[in-house]
Amino acid sequence: MGDPAMSVQDQYEAFVDADLLTEQIDEAMDALPGLASGADLAGLDQFQVGGLQSTIAFGKLLGLGRGDQVLDAGSGLGGPSRYMAETFGCEVVAVDLAPSYVAIAQLLADRTALSDTVTYQVGDLTTLAFDTARFDLAYSQHVVMNICDRARVYAEMRRVVKPGGRFAFYDVAAGNKPEPYFPLPWAEHGGGSLLLTAEETLAALDQAGWTLSVWQDVTADAGPWFAQRSPATSQGLHLTSVMGPRFAEMASNMRRSLIEEKLWLVMAVFQRR
Ligand SMILES: C[S@@+](CC[C@H](N)C(=O)[O-])C[C@H]1O[C@@H](n2cnc3c(N)ncnc32)[C@H](O)[C@@H]1O
Repeated sequence: MGDPAMSVQDQYEAFVDADLLTEQIDEAMDALPGLASGADLAGLDQFQVGGLQSTIAFGKLLGLGRGDQVLDAGSGLGGPSRYMAETFGCEVVAVDLAPSYVAIAQLLADRTALSDTVTYQVGDLTTLAFDTARFDLAYSQHVVMNICDRARVYAEMRRVVKPGGRFAFYDVAAGNKPEPYFPLPWAEHGGGSLLLTAEETLAALDQAGWTLSVWQDVTADAGPWFAQRSPATSQGLHLTSVMGPRFAEMASNMRRSLIEEKLWLVMAVFQRR
């Protein structure tokens, strides 16, 4: 990833063979005795540091309730959105830049009987095709690392969230030591990595009309998780099927960069002013 000539969408889809993956998922689902659970699929569909256990911790901060209208902004293969819908009974609309990810996320929702409460569509965080004040809460996990215009993202989140609603993220921030190790899952080199520091992130959100209510530095939780990482599903499906053969090297660079404080991981919740 990170070739300057490649779009972010192309970078995420460079190694995806959507037909093959669809076939593999169908076969894997057919082989299970019942419906796949979130834990069964976590090695494939939880695309953030900490995997399912991070999504569970993040979900606890969101205060979601039955019927809440929720936006998952940058939903990837959809593990977090399906977890939120199933656990809290909310209705999730999920958008992602990559059409093949959206198709696979929808397939997994169909195959886990969650398509009544989670829907997926192609979309860009910087120009969302939703009415103003459509959602109670918008959240995003590990998406903004390639987005230069962060003010635009936070303004769009504010536009689509109702007055008094919330925005939450679980994101990577620039640490207080120079340059992380590359390649990282979102960038081959520094030119493709557009991280803000924690302070810059807070300032951008404040300026966009968001008031901080929860801030958790969860960097230290990453080390133990990397030691075991989410294993492949019982049918051998893993994020490597999506991200290609260098994914292990990227993950290892991320781990080193977090341990050496070149990167930080933060979960945060904001209230719309
Ligand atoms: C590391 S994955 C995280 C996926 C998901 N949030 C999760 O935690 O499993 C990053 C995702 O962000 C998406 N993405 C990147 N830039 C985006 C944008 N401007 N709008 C929508 N999605 C974007 C990518 O296509 C990719 O699916």
